Amino acid sequence: MRSVAMVTGAQRGIGFGISQVLAHRGFSVVLCDLDKSALEEAGQTLPDSHTEVLDVADFAAVQVVVERIEKTWGPIAVLVNNAGINRDHMIHKMNEEDWDAVVAVNLKGQFNCMRQVIPYMRARQAGRIINISSASWLGNVGQANYAAAKAGVIGLTKTAARELARLHITVNAICPGFIDTPMTRRMPPDAFEAMMEKIPMGRIGTPEDVGRVVAFLASEDAAYVTGEVINVGGGMVL
Ligand code: NAI
Repeated sequence: MRSVAMVTGAQRGIGFGISQVLAHRGFSVVLCDLDKSALEEAGQTLPDSHTEVLDVADFAAVQVVVERIEKTWGPIAVLVNNAGINRDHMIHKMNEEDWDAVVAVNLKGQFNCMRQVIPYMRARQAGRIINISSASWLGNVGQANYAAAKAGVIGLTKTAARELARLHITVNAICPGFIDTPMTRRMPPDAFEAMMEKIPMGRIGTPEDVGRVVAFLASEDAAYVTGEVINVGGGMVL
């Protein structure tokens, strides 16, 4: 039987790239995201995959969906917390809603999923959790809400790694650099070009570049790696 991997924010972009790589490495992937038809379209292209409509910011909904995945599709071996949004403004122009929404999805959303999945992993004394942070956690102009949430993800990851190490559950974070997705394609052309110039490898990353590192962290090869923060950015953060 294939091991189950739950991937949030999976209907497009990096989450879909991660789902593709995991599916082709033999996982049964449960794609979780907001839009039923976009999810189903994405899932159709992946062997042995399933879909769940899920808003990760909704604590009660996460509980229901995690229970359903465990009962219907089998034990969650891998949780990939990827769902994320950005609402960029300078701090002096950022409103309360922009702050709350970004923290609710990017930070609380990861806690919500870990809170529900970890009891199952603890009972089995096995599991892999991979949290998607961002190079922006180090600070980025116009992204106070996003950077604070993504820095929070690092603290959450390292705390969970310490709590779960003795139970053979690993928890790691990945910081993508600049990856070609709908999120980055929405940027104004001059900002897009400025980001490209920061990449020593000279090319934008692909969702699969991130997916392959997720697959490594989910594999037996990474059994002794926990609490790490891995940049996947073509040298953007050195
Ligand atoms: P994207 O905007 O293309 O895709 C994000 C996905 O998350 C979408 O399918 C969206 O529907 C879903 N989503 C949003 N809110 C949700 C919620 N409340 N519940 C469930 N799903 C939700 O973004 P992209 O670029 O694929 O980003 C994926 C992750 O990677 C995010 O956490 C982002 O912060 C992070 N990241 C992206 C970088 C990039 O260069 N694209 C760089 C660094 C980090």
